[in-house]
Amino acid sequence: MKLLVTGGAGFIGSAVVRTAIADGREIINVDKLTYASNLKSISSVAHNPLYQFEKADICSAGTMVKLLAKHRPDAIMHLAAESHVDRSIDRPSKFIQTNIVGTYQLLEAALNYFNTLDGEKRENFRFHHVSTDEVFGSLSMHDPAFTPETRYAPRSPYSASKAASDHLALSWFHTYGFPVVLSNCSNNYGPYQFPEKLIPLIVISALNKRPLPVYGKGENVRDWLHVDDHAVALLKVLDYGKLGESYLIGGDAERSNLDVVRAICSLMDEAQGFGPHEELITFVTDRPGHDHRYAIDASKIRNQLGWRPSVGFEEGLTQTVQWYLANQAWWQPLVKERYSGERMGLGTSKRTV
Ligand code: NAD
Ligand code: DAU
Repeated sequence: MKLLVTGGAGFIGSAVVRTAIADGREIINVDKLTYASNLKSISSVAHNPLYQFEKADICSAGTMVKLLAKHRPDAIMHLAAESHVDRSIDRPSKFIQTNIVGTYQLLEAALNYFNTLDGEKRENFRFHHVSTDEVFGSLSMHDPAFTPETRYAPRSPYSASKAASDHLALSWFHTYGFPVVLSNCSNNYGPYQFPEKLIPLIVISALNKRPLPVYGKGENVRDWLHVDDHAVALLKVLDYGKLGESYLIGGDAERSNLDVVRAICSLMDEAQGFGPHEELITFVTDRPGHDHRYAIDASKIRNQLGWRPSVGFEEGLTQTVQWYLANQAWWQPLVKERYSGERMGLGTSKRTV
């Protein structure tokens, strides 16, 4: 299969690229290389004959039309997006542009290309739109987990932009018969995650003996999934998902933020041979509109596609902390160059240490 991936230099996209190439698929990675990207995350496959890279912006329909005509993929997996909630609160415009307008431009170009296909190539073509559980909004501790039937109720500029893009993708299926599959996943963690997200931010801050910023009281709950398990699930949905349907992907690992931060602190105590790193925990002003809890009912992908997570959260977190400690050359330049001027993870808004 020749698969065109958008956002393949990002955290999840790079895991998809590595997994798909190991699987023997040909990959065309289309990425604009924003601040969140890192080509070093795919250096292991950069010289593989199955891999090609195109630096391009999904917002340019003309460029997308040309790339699709040039590479003639069998499928598209669309991951390119602005992905950090705090940045969407501080400056929403890029989220509207990339996540909504960019998805629209890509859909236009892809439909155009699809309409040039015939026979088996047309019958087997797929457009996989990769989305998030955040489109379903916020749960209380007693609410049942999200299912594919849960009503959309996004509450941040990021989740609203992703919800809009989900609706656009499915409307292309219903209106134009464009072969779309959709997936909504919970919080990913693992190697190569940009250090503005909770887990790498806490590891790196703890290593540098800096305050560990926990928003509000740390009671918000996320469901954590290892990124490599997500990559496998995405390829399953691409290969076997029913057209026009959505698959919810989760790790069955709900944890409060404070529990996650404390777990990282005790792993750091062990790794460094001193502590307690917990003394660095600092409660800071909450994220505006902070969704309380996300939880996924993944029975559809489990029962219909035979997928389940293979990495338990405690095992995956231990490996992840070790990875960040062993791979400082990967993240140091991101912290120094691209992130200077902003305190790690706090963006420019009101949250203060
Ligand atoms: P990321 O921020 O790490 O990477 C995004 C990638 O997209 C980067 O390489 C960036 O350069 C590229 N990109 C951004 N704008 C682009 C544009 N206009 N044209 C081409 N490329 C562009 O994101 P991630 O965490 O890997 O998330 C990938 C996708 O998965 C997103 O759609 C996100 O909404 C979704 N998702 C993420 C999570 C998570 O926990 N991180 C969970 C569920 C779903
Ligand atoms: O649920 C899927 C989503 O998970 C994806 O769609 C997003 O792209 C991804 O960024 C992630 O969103 P979150 O907002 O949940 O992830 P983040 O790592 O930013 O925050 C995780 C939790 O930790 C959240 O409740 C906010 C909190 N937090 C975060 C940071 C950066 C803190 O308490 N302190 C921090 O410094």
